[in-house]
Amino acid sequence: MAEDRRKLIVVSNRGPVSFGRGEAGARTARRGGGGLVTALRSLVSHHDVTWIASAISDEDRVVAGEGLQEETARDGSAYRLRLVAHDPQAYDWYYNVIANPTLWFLQHYLWNLTAQPNVDHALLHAWSEGYVAVNRGFAETVLEELEREPEATVFFHDYHLYLAPRLVRDAAPQATLAQFVHIPWAEADYWRVLPEAIRYAVHDGLLANDVVGFHTPRWRRNFLRCALDIADAAVDLERGLVMHGEHTALVSAHPISVDAEEFDDLAENPAVLAAGADIHEFRPEKLILRVDRTDPSKNVVRGFRAFELYLDAHPEMHARVIMVSRLDPSRQDIPEYAEYLGAIQREARRVNDRFQREGWTPIWLEIADDFARSVASYKEFDVLLVNPIFDGLNLVAKEAPLVNTRDGVLVLSENAGVHEELGQWAVSVNPFDVAGQALAIHEALEMPQAERRARLEAIRAHVREHDLEAWIAAQLADLDRVRRPRHPLARLRRS
Ligand code: F6P
Repeated sequence: MAEDRRKLIVVSNRGPVSFGRGEAGARTARRGGGGLVTALRSLVSHHDVTWIASAISDEDRVVAGEGLQEETARDGSAYRLRLVAHDPQAYDWYYNVIANPTLWFLQHYLWNLTAQPNVDHALLHAWSEGYVAVNRGFAETVLEELEREPEATVFFHDYHLYLAPRLVRDAAPQATLAQFVHIPWAEADYWRVLPEAIRYAVHDGLLANDVVGFHTPRWRRNFLRCALDIADAAVDLERGLVMHGEHTALVSAHPISVDAEEFDDLAENPAVLAAGADIHEFRPEKLILRVDRTDPSKNVVRGFRAFELYLDAHPEMHARVIMVSRLDPSRQDIPEYAEYLGAIQREARRVNDRFQREGWTPIWLEIADDFARSVASYKEFDVLLVNPIFDGLNLVAKEAPLVNTRDGVLVLSENAGVHEELGQWAVSVNPFDVAGQALAIHEALEMPQAERRARLEAIRAHVREHDLEAWIAAQLADLDRVRRPRHPLARLRRS
């Protein structure tokens, strides 16, 4: 793939780095968080990338004012970074009202429809003055970059950017546009919770791309049906082709993956070894692990209830097992997220109060953004609990088995996208069924060693074969299938 080097304009809300100021006043660069950014980093090694992202920190805004930056990735590859400083109020409406509590909640089926959402003036205002405005800002920046590099392929990412492709397409009809949606796609009836103009704009925007990618056939199928029901497009379900107006989009499914070699290195990294020393020393015989963001979709509270049921049923395991929950505090400016973090802490306290005794606290709750400690914990699990309500894919289920040293067993929600790949080697659970999850924990802890090892090795082999490079190659192959012949003098028409 390296020989097929392409010009790519990658567009995502969160960028690969975020800037700050160190104590001595010098500019510092911190690796951007989240699975999306981790996964896309290797694009930079193989292609000629200009990355457009939101300026999020104060120092990011200063960097945005300095224009295009020449950056170097950890592996030494050069890329260009263009940060966009949106109006702060517009960005707040876009991120804290629409993208997360509305689109993310919808796409993970997180609403209790008797009470939520409230489609009121505030939400409609946040849509038009926030989500639309920020997407317009992204589209204008993409068009500027396309003027510099008219042959580049634009690769949009995720639910923050559903409107930008339409704006770019209208101004640059010949541009090659792709978008990957890293989260689930909900069924059409659930999208109907949103007003018609908004749900149409979301689908119309996505269908302005040449390729729309999802992790799994399940999300792809939902999107194709929505294209029919909501955008009134002509849909070929079999081939994944959607004809909307004059334009045809290819809708595909390729699960993202991880860089297995990076995890081989991380397992021996001094920071990881140091971060894990206390876990190794103080852990009891059995360790159940979860590593997540504190996101309501991750289902942490039900995980604790399942563990409580397990402890109720298995007094012989008291003081012999712990559940380590390493949770990255996420999106805390959004009330639903702040409340959920509170619920997690209350539930852990309640279960611990019931069972703990001298020398044994059944739930170790660690709320921190600490990647080294997460990897250290990956090495130690006997059971990895991945029980999201819904999840686009879930990279923890791919990362942790790569470095695990204990023939650990994956307990996996049937609603995680990764279940379509790894479910055959996991103990599957319904994420709402806490009794079933308690039984699954028991089954996983009691599984004979030979079977545990065989399942873990099968997962590793699968992840190593279907790695990040394979995912990137699949995205680019989709683009080649649809890439239109272009006139070299095709001029971009600006709105
Ligand atoms: O695709 C979901 C995602 O955008 C991932 O990049 C990442 O796991 C997470 O959500 C990060 O969210 P945020 O950028 O809001 O912190």
